[in-house]
Amino acid sequence: MIFRQLFDRESSTYTYLIASREGGEALLIDPVLEHTNRYVQLVRELGLQLVLAVDTHIHADHITGLGKLREQTGCISAMGEMTRAECLSTHFADGEKLKLDGVAITAMYTPGHTDDSYSFQLPDRVLTGDTLLIRGTGRTDFQNGDPGAQYDSLFGRLLKLPEETLVYPAHDYNGMNVSTIGEEKSHNPRLQVAGRAAYVELMNGLVLDNPRMMDVAVPANRKCGLANAA
Ligand SMILES: [Fe+2]
Repeated sequence: MIFRQLFDRESSTYTYLIASREGGEALLIDPVLEHTNRYVQLVRELGLQLVLAVDTHIHADHITGLGKLREQTGCISAMGEMTRAECLSTHFADGEKLKLDGVAITAMYTPGHTDDSYSFQLPDRVLTGDTLLIRGTGRTDFQNGDPGAQYDSLFGRLLKLPEETLVYPAHDYNGMNVSTIGEEKSHNPRLQVAGRAAYVELMNGLVLDNPRMMDVAVPANRKCGLANAA
C-alpha cells in the first residue's frame, strides 16, 4: 500500500494520499486548497490515478481542495451523508466501503467535533479526523459539535478497535504524526475521564478562541472550496 501523510503548515492539517500500489487508484483525504498542485504532481509522479477525494468533516481552519481537485483531475468528491456541503459528487454512510481498487477503507460515522465527522478504517490503522487527536480530541463548541456524541464516538467506537491500531489524525499542533489506540487510551488526557458526564463537563469547560479562518472557511467548504460554485 502507498500511504503518504502530507502536512499544511498554516493550519497544521494532515492530508493523506492512499493507493494500493504504484499505478493504482488513489484517494486523498482532507486536501488543502493551496496544495492542490502539489497533490496532483505527487499523484502523477507515483503514476497513480486519483479517483476519489473526501473530507472527514467540514473544516473551519482551512479551505478544502475537494472542488479544485475534481475540476483538475475528474475525481469524485465525497463526504458523509450528514454534511451540509452542497457541492459533492456523492455521499457515504456509516459502514460503507469507499470504492478504491485494492484497498479496503470503511467509513465510520464518528460525530461530536461536528455532526458530519467521519473516521476511515483500514485493516491496520484508522484516520480519525478531528474526533481523536494525538493526546487530544477535537473541540465540540461549534458546527453542531456535541461532547456527548463525541464521547460515544470515542469510547463506543474508536477505542474499541484493537490497541495496536495506528491512529492518524487530521491535525497535530505538537509535531506528532502517528499514535495507536492503546497509546491514546493510556496517555490521552481527554480520555482519562470517569464517564460520559465527566467528558461533557470537561469539553464544555474549555475556553477556546474561534479559528482564524472560520468565517471564511466554513462557507467556502460548503461549496467544496470553489468560490464560484452554486
Ligand atoms: Fe475540524
